Amino acid sequence: MAGEELKPNGMQFADKEVYVKDVFTEIASYYDEMNEIMSLRMIRGWHRYMMKLLGDISGKRCADVGTGTGEIALLLAEKAGKGGEVVGIDITPEMLIYAERKMRGRGPPKDVAFEVGDALDLQYPDGSFDVVTSGYMLRNVNDVQKAIDEMYRILAPGGKAVMAEMATPDNRVVRWAFKLYMEKRVKRIGRKYDRGEEIDGKMPAYDWLAKSIEGFPHGEVMADKFSKAGFVDVRAHKKNFGAVYIYEGAKLR
Ligand SMILES: C[S@@+](CC[C@H](N)C(=O)[O-])C[C@H]1O[C@@H](n2cnc3c(N)ncnc32)[C@H](O)[C@@H]1O
Repeated sequence: MAGEELKPNGMQFADKEVYVKDVFTEIASYYDEMNEIMSLRMIRGWHRYMMKLLGDISGKRCADVGTGTGEIALLLAEKAGKGGEVVGIDITPEMLIYAERKMRGRGPPKDVAFEVGDALDLQYPDGSFDVVTSGYMLRNVNDVQKAIDEMYRILAPGGKAVMAEMATPDNRVVRWAFKLYMEKRVKRIGRKYDRGEEIDGKMPAYDWLAKSIEGFPHGEVMADKFSKAGFVDVRAHKKNFGAVYIYEGAKLR
């Protein structure tokens, strides 16, 4: 990562978990709308790619950690079908209110159990799930390795995990364009929503969402964390010139 300080455990500061929860409580009502705008509607493609990597999951037990408004959990429920079970876990109750509302609004019930929980201390016994997913949560936690370790722990032998996270592109020209996009578009549009109000005396919500990406471990550095947790067949799939990575890993039978 030339010219960029790599923060192997993401950006950490005192009371980060309180701040993060307050940020997502604040933005829950417009989170989906902003995601679509910020990602130039590419987020749906990244979700589809996650589902493709999972292969056939019909009838499987699935957990989506840091589920937010439940988009990935609902895709899992559709893909796992009637015999499947899906739990969507998030530390911010307000996000889960919108997830529940979305589930009820989308035709036949999808039966996702949305539960409040902390990714760093998941309340499920070892090997509870065949599939574990997580989208854009890792940079929000105060111990990235612990979160990956926990997701590995709740995965059953033979199970598979797929996680997506934003990154700063390594290529200098792309990184310049990405930074410009973050500063000029994301923060500017975000300002209309977060009104530039500081949360907990720290930065406004959309400043955090942009800042937390800077220097966040990605690619091989992140893949090593998966291997360290015990995952095998780890792969880091680079998307959009390295603005997003989708990681996959399996647990040995
Ligand atoms: C950027 S959002 C992503 C939401 C969703 N996965 C998606 O793809 O849109 C990050 C989510 O992670 C949740 N989160 C942050 N720290 C967490 C933790 N320690 N345990 C569980 N969820 C957490 C936040 O509340 C938020 O809903």
